Amino acid sequence: MREPTMVVGADSNAAAAGGADGSPLPPPTSSPPQALVERLKDYGQEHVFALWDELSPDERLHLVKDIQSLDLSRIDRIIRCSLRSQGLPVAAIEPVPESCVSSVEERTMEERERWWKMGLKAISEGKLAVLLLSGGQGTRLGSSDPKGCFNIGLPSGKSLFQLQAERILCVQRLAAQAKNEGSVTIHWYVMTSPFTDDATRKFFESHKYFGLEADQVTFFQQGTQPCISKDGRYIMETPFKVAKSPDGNGGVYTALKSSRLLEDMAARGIKYVDCYGVDNALVRVADPTFLGYFIDKGVAAAAKVVKKAYPQEKVGVFVRRGKGGPLTVVEYTELDSSLASAVNQQTGRLRFCWSNVCLHMFTLDFLSQVADGLEKDGIYHLAEKKVPSIHGYTMGLKLEQFVFDAFPYAPSTALFEVLREEEFAPVKNANGSNYDTPDSARLLVLRLHTRWVVAAGGFLTHSVPLYATGVEVSPLCSYAGENLESICRGRTFHAPCEIAF
Ligand code: UD1
Repeated sequence: MREPTMVVGADSNAAAAGGADGSPLPPPTSSPPQALVERLKDYGQEHVFALWDELSPDERLHLVKDIQSLDLSRIDRIIRCSLRSQGLPVAAIEPVPESCVSSVEERTMEERERWWKMGLKAISEGKLAVLLLSGGQGTRLGSSDPKGCFNIGLPSGKSLFQLQAERILCVQRLAAQAKNEGSVTIHWYVMTSPFTDDATRKFFESHKYFGLEADQVTFFQQGTQPCISKDGRYIMETPFKVAKSPDGNGGVYTALKSSRLLEDMAARGIKYVDCYGVDNALVRVADPTFLGYFIDKGVAAAAKVVKKAYPQEKVGVFVRRGKGGPLTVVEYTELDSSLASAVNQQTGRLRFCWSNVCLHMFTLDFLSQVADGLEKDGIYHLAEKKVPSIHGYTMGLKLEQFVFDAFPYAPSTALFEVLREEEFAPVKNANGSNYDTPDSARLLVLRLHTRWVVAAGGFLTHSVPLYATGVEVSPLCSYAGENLESICRGRTFHAPCEIAF
């Protein structure tokens, strides 16, 4: 890769190479299309045609189409900015000031009730949309299905998608009750990637959208980026295909913009967007309390956080970038281990203790601005990973943006502490691993729901030890432990079981 010799528009050059305007491509014969070769030379990527002579006519056509589908000048800018940013000094990180965090201890009952009501009111007015980041591949989980299809072994057998859909249904019902008339709809935007799109859509269809209306769910795809070598050259997955990977969950901003979904949200009257990761079995989707807090604070961006459990926990932590700088997240893969274990001598807590649970709230106005800022800076994270290549797997760089890269662009940010035992049950690794497995997540759900049932006056019997079992409460009955007395008081449940209407 080298500096381009001239700045050229992608479309005009792709057209010069044939096919970009929809017209049939001339069958590639003895040599690759000259215009395309010249463009690739501008960006130091002409090696993609190295094996041209060995390709069949179909493979040649495939390769030409593959290259034409790439926005070469944009990708070149991203590669250059991202590689260059590697060597640049960055402002030192500082702990998040306490004043930016609403901690569980300092919250009063009155505040919680007020936020809950404010949130329900805004939801009943149709101002909240839910945005699911579901483009990741469940590689660590050892599954080829999208992660949301995963059944963590709860008594109900529900998938992560179903648990989330039913929580949306529950909040819709609560908001309609609070309004005292009609029904309420929360629109659900589901981001997939080329690797998860088809299977995700089919899963929703075959499960009849889990009781939601089909037209309240909108699927859209994030983009991909070529995988590159350390010197910025595309890695070839086969002699006629560039290796690509999803552009990270921060690809959501570009994808929302290019799919014109920000306009779609505005047309629906949406003002606030609750954006979250698919792989948390306890995720409180569309949480009225968090929304009420967000509205009350009047900030552009907010995130739920939990206290970090131990220094090496694989979670990003919120930090302040430079004295008086913006809040942002440093991912666990990028945090120096001595900083990760540094202790604040006054509080006895980790200096960087506010862990990201991948649940954020944004105003729609802010979302409309952030894609431009991120695009202008063009800096992606570079993750060194195994990439499928002509030579088997090879170590290469994947270009990714992270959803929390938006925070430094926010004029104001607030953090909202939640209890991990109530809201954080990550499903990251296959059973057998030491942490964040389907088994550990299932137990966290069962323990929380058992506490709800006991607090509501219910009793439990069990034939396996209670530490290994419990009851599950259907999200259709209760969102956060409320309204369970009429179902549970004086009743005995034999664990494991699901309590449903
Ligand atoms: C993520 C957070 C981390 C946080 C942790 C909590 C990011 C970048 N990191 O880490 O700070 O502490 O969750 O559990 O957010 N996804 C896409 N497209 C992609 C890649 C991922 O939509 O290209 C989605 C996944 O489907 C998932 C979410 O983003 O819903 C989190 O992605 P993952 O890569 O698993 O992040 P973690 O390493 O778990």
